[in-house]
Amino acid sequence: MSQEPQVIYLKDYQAPAYSVDKTTLRFELYEEETIVRAELQMQRNTQHAEPLPLQLFGHESMELLRLAVNGGVLQQAEYSREGELLTLLDTPDQLTLEIVTRIEPQNNTSLEGLYKSDGMFCTQCEAEGFRRITFYPDRPDVLSVFTTTVEAEQSRYPVLLSNGNPIARGQEEDGRHWVTWEDPFPKPAYLFALVAGDLEHIEDQFTTASGRPVELKIFAEKKDLDKLDYAMQSLKRSMTWDEEVYGREYDLDIFMIVAVDFFNMGAMENKGLNIFNTSCVLANPKTTTDAAFQRVEGVVAHEYFHNWSGNRVTCRDWFQLSLKEGFTVFRDAEFSADMNSRTVKRIEDVTLLRTAQFAEDAGPMAHPVRPASFIEISNFYTLTVYEKGAEVVRMIHTLLGPELFRKGSDLYFDRHDGKAVTTDDFVDAMEDASGRDLSQFRRWYSQAGTPELQVEDRFDESTGVYQLTVRQSCPGTPDMKHKQPFHIPLALGLLDQQGSDLPLDGGQTTQVLDLTESEQTFSFEGLSAKPVPSLLRGFSAPVKLSYDYSRDELLFLMAHDSDGFNRWDASQKLAVGIMQELVAAYPSQMQLDQRLVDAYRRVLTDESLDPAMVAQILTLPSEAYLAELADVVDVEAIHEVRQFIRRQLAKALESEFLATYNSHQTLEAYRPDASEVARRSLKNLALSYLVALDNEAYLSLAQSQFADADNMTDQQAALGQVVHSDFVEAGQQVLAKFYDQWQHESLVVNQWLAVQASDVKEGALERVVALMQHEAFDMKNPNKVRSVISVFCNQNLLNFHRPDGSGYRFLADQVIEFNRINPQIASRLLTPLTRWKKYDADRQALMKAELGRIMDSGELSKDVYEVVSKSLAAVE
Ligand code: TRP
Ligand code: ZN
Repeated sequence: MSQEPQVIYLKDYQAPAYSVDKTTLRFELYEEETIVRAELQMQRNTQHAEPLPLQLFGHESMELLRLAVNGGVLQQAEYSREGELLTLLDTPDQLTLEIVTRIEPQNNTSLEGLYKSDGMFCTQCEAEGFRRITFYPDRPDVLSVFTTTVEAEQSRYPVLLSNGNPIARGQEEDGRHWVTWEDPFPKPAYLFALVAGDLEHIEDQFTTASGRPVELKIFAEKKDLDKLDYAMQSLKRSMTWDEEVYGREYDLDIFMIVAVDFFNMGAMENKGLNIFNTSCVLANPKTTTDAAFQRVEGVVAHEYFHNWSGNRVTCRDWFQLSLKEGFTVFRDAEFSADMNSRTVKRIEDVTLLRTAQFAEDAGPMAHPVRPASFIEISNFYTLTVYEKGAEVVRMIHTLLGPELFRKGSDLYFDRHDGKAVTTDDFVDAMEDASGRDLSQFRRWYSQAGTPELQVEDRFDESTGVYQLTVRQSCPGTPDMKHKQPFHIPLALGLLDQQGSDLPLDGGQTTQVLDLTESEQTFSFEGLSAKPVPSLLRGFSAPVKLSYDYSRDELLFLMAHDSDGFNRWDASQKLAVGIMQELVAAYPSQMQLDQRLVDAYRRVLTDESLDPAMVAQILTLPSEAYLAELADVVDVEAIHEVRQFIRRQLAKALESEFLATYNSHQTLEAYRPDASEVARRSLKNLALSYLVALDNEAYLSLAQSQFADADNMTDQQAALGQVVHSDFVEAGQQVLAKFYDQWQHESLVVNQWLAVQASDVKEGALERVVALMQHEAFDMKNPNKVRSVISVFCNQNLLNFHRPDGSGYRFLADQVIEFNRINPQIASRLLTPLTRWKKYDADRQALMKAELGRIMDSGELSKDVYEVVSKSLAAVE
C-alpha cells in the first residue's frame, strides 16, 4: 500500500456544502472511449455557519477534460485534485458547474460505474460507482433531478435507456442516434442508470390503485426473450402486494428491468430502470430450477419495493444502508411468504442467518447493523446489514403488531418522502405511531454480535406455578468488548402432556415476552403439570437460545408443536445433538440413535404433512452449520458423520424413500407454484437418500430421471446426485451429456460448473483448477467465478480445508489475481479465509500465512485491504 487507506466514521458526518438542484448529463458512447458532459446547478447549503469548500468525488481512472464555473474554465490554481477528492476553491453561493470527463468503459472490469457486459453498455453506481463516470458530490444525501442524453451508434446500440421518461430522440448523419430521458424525482447519484445495447423486450401494463397506467418493460438479449415472462408476472404481483400491504403505489409512467450477464451482485433498484444479474431475472422451466424461480420472484420484488424503501425515502449516509436494505429484505420476505409457504420461507431465511450471518457476527469483520466505521463501503453489503437488518425490522413488527407497524411505516414514508434519513428516523416513526418505547431496542442497530439466551425452568407442583428464567449475554466483538442488554421479543408457547397449547396471557397460545434485563424470571400460574416450552417461536429474534431439551422432548415438539417453524427446529436440534455427539467421538462409536430413524419414518409416512415441510425436516443440518456451532471445527469428522448418518437413514428407510419418490412424481405440465415445488423437493430429497446407498438400481433411477426430465429442477437434481455418487464413470457421462445439451445457456452452464466444484471426491482442487481453463469459464464474469471458486471454498469444505493448505493457497492466489480485475469480487471471495480462528492450530497457521501473503502481494484495493487487515488484526 502506498498509503494507509482512510477510515470513515459515522460520528464525523457533516451535511454537504452544496446541494444540486439539477443535473444534466450527455453521454457520447464510442468503442474506444466515452465522453461524459455534466452540468450541475448548485447552491450553497446555508445551514453551515462557516462555509465549507465545494467537494466532488472522482475516481483516478477518469480523465478531466474541462471544468468550468458559470461558463469560465477553471485554472489549475482554482481547484485541487487529490486521490478521489476534487476541491474547488472560492466558489460562489450559486453556480453552474460544467464537467467533461473521458472514460473507458470497455476496459472497466471492476463492474462499477459505466462498463460493458457482453457488448452492451450498462452502469452500476451503488454505492460509489457514479464517481467513475463524472466528478460529482457522490453521496446519498445529495438529491437532484436528472436529465440524461445518451448518444451512440444506432446499429450497435439501437436501445438507449436511462431513468425516468423518454422526452426526446433524434438521428445524426453519421449513423448515430440519441435519446433524452428525464427523471422528475430527485435522487442521489447511486440510483442513476444508463443502458445502451442491442436489446429486445417484452411489455405489459399495470394500473395502479388510483388508476394511473404504468408501462412495464423487461429487456434482455434476443436469445433470452423466452425467459422473461416469470419476472413480468412477479413484477405485477409485487406492485399489487405493495399497494395492498403497505399502501404504496408506483410513481413514474414507466418501469423497466434490464438483464445483464456481468454483474457484481443480484440486482439494482435504479429509479425506473432496474438492472438485474441475468441469474435473478431469467426463468423458464427448461433452464431454471424451482429455487431459481423463487429467487427471481424474490429479487424482482426486492428491487421493486426499493422504489419506496430506498428511493423515495433514501439513506443519509452509507452507515444507514440497512435503513433501506434491512427494511426491503423484510418486505420481500413477507411478500414471498404470502406468495408461497410462509413456514418454508422462514426456515430458509433462518437457516441462512444462523449459518452465515452468525458466523460473520463471530468473525473479524463483525459489525453492527448500522456500522460505526468503514474503509470501503462495498465490504458492508453483508448478511448483517441485509438479513440481520431484516430481523431487526421483523422484531419491531412483532413488538408492535401488524396494525401499529403499518401505522409506523405510513408515518415514516409520509414524514420522509423525498428525503435522505437515518435508521433512527425509522425507529422514531415506529415509536411515534405506536406509542411504544423503543429506546433500548435501538441497541440492535449499534451493537454487533449474536446475543445468547440461556433458559432454565422450574415447576412447583404444590402451587402449580411454572417459572422460566432467561439470561442474556452477548460475546464481545472487535469493535466493542462489553455489550448492554438487548430488548428481545421472545415468543413462546407451553405444551401440555397431550401436546396441546396451554392458554397463556389473555387466552392466546403464543405470547411474546419482553426481555430487557440480563436476567429475568417469568411465571405462569395454574398449571397442573410441567409443560414442555416451545421457545422462540417463528424465530422471533436473531439469537442463539439454549435450553436443555431431552431428545424425547424434541421428538414431542416435532410431533405436536402448533408452530411450524419450531416443529422443524426441534428436528434440527435433535439431528444437531446426535451429530455433535458422533463428531466428538469420531471415529469410534459410529452408531446412530434409533430415535432419529423413527422420527424420520413418522414424518415421511405422515400424509397429512406438507411435502415441503417433510423435505425440510428430513434435510440434515449442513456441514457449514455444524462448523458454525463448533468451537473448533473438526472438518473431516463433520463430513464423515454427516455422510454416515445419511447412509444409515437411507438403509433404514429405503422402502419409505422409494415409496415417497414414486408417489411424488408430477404428471402435469411444470408449474413453479408452492405445491408443485414442494412435491419436487420431497421427491428429489428421497432420490438423494436412495442414491447414497451406492446401489446400481438407484443409480439408474437417477439416470433415467436425468434423461427424461422435462424441467431443470429434476434434471439438475439427478445430475448432482449422479456426479456426487461414487459411480465416477456415470458421473462423467451425465456431465458430458449435460454440457452438450446446455452449453449455449450460460446460466445452466453455471450449474454444471457448480456441481463439479462441490464434488468432494479425490482430486477436487485439481478439477477446479482444470475447470478454470474450460471454455465455459470466464474470470471477468462474476457468475462464473461464484459457480467455481466460491462454491469450492464455501461448499466443498473437506477439500478447501485440506490439511496440506492447498485450498487456502489456491484461494489466496485467486484473491491476488482478482484484486486487480474486480476488487468487490476479490474481497467477497476472501470470506472463508477470515474464519481462521475456528480451526485447529495447524490450519490457523496456514490460513494466516495466506492472509499475510495477500497483504504483502503489492498494491491492494481498499476492498481487499480492509478485510485482510481486519482478519490479521485479530491475531494477538
Ligand atoms: N442495492 C442493491 C440491492 O438491491 C445492492 C447492489 C447491487 C450492490 N449492485 C451492487 C451493492 C453493487 C454494491 C455493489 O440489494
Ligand atoms: Zn436491496
